[in-house]
Amino acid sequence: MRLDKLLAQEKISRKAMKQALLKKEILVDGLPASSLAQNVDTGLQELMFQGRRIQGYEHTYLMLRKPNGAVTASKDKKLPTVMDLLPQHLQSDQLYAIGRLDRDTTGLLLLTDNGPLGFQLLHPQYHVDKTYQVEVNGPLTPDHIQEFKDGIIFLDGTICKPAQLEILSSSPSLSKATITISEGKFHQVKKMFLSVGVKVTALKRVQFGDFMLDSDLAEGDFRPLNKEELRFIKTYLENSG
Ligand code: URA
Repeated sequence: MRLDKLLAQEKISRKAMKQALLKKEILVDGLPASSLAQNVDTGLQELMFQGRRIQGYEHTYLMLRKPNGAVTASKDKKLPTVMDLLPQHLQSDQLYAIGRLDRDTTGLLLLTDNGPLGFQLLHPQYHVDKTYQVEVNGPLTPDHIQEFKDGIIFLDGTICKPAQLEILSSSPSLSKATITISEGKFHQVKKMFLSVGVKVTALKRVQFGDFMLDSDLAEGDFRPLNKEELRFIKTYLENSG
């Protein structure tokens, strides 16, 4: 949550926040806050305001293994959503998925109620890499690796940032690969492969920044982030000022 929003919940006026910020009287894990727009989580960080500990709100961070068929949305009139996979007590209007996956894409999805976090992780400035396992309906060759490295150009002329393609197997009707991209354009991976003449037949996200898909999670299952993963979140929070 933004620092100013959290302090406002404690009934601290905007003027008092600004003064305390200037006087370095707002401390996050012992260090002066750099901005009122900073993203903080009092479940992970110690927040002090003029010597007083602010308890604030502990955010939720979940890893979900998205199954084929679920829509990445909070609600849908007809189709099951990723939120429907959670028990009632975890469902909240504030919870959202960081980075959308297509309905037929499976794999790693992070869910949180920490609003600004997704904005930060998805912003092009942060270059958060995403890795996918892909199956396509045609051959892949070393020329494709170079094309992806040079920056794929979509059929409509959109230019993609360099991507890393690793071919695992190739045959005339089925090839397997992993691809790492740093952007999040709509249907990006599918469109990239279409641009080189093959169609994606299966797509699974296995990594998002520092987060790796937990292979112990069955499709449709979720778990809270573990201690190590919460440390990654903390690093993102520390760089949010
Ligand atoms: N690229 C796609 O084409 N689809 C996804 O779901 C994710 C990345």
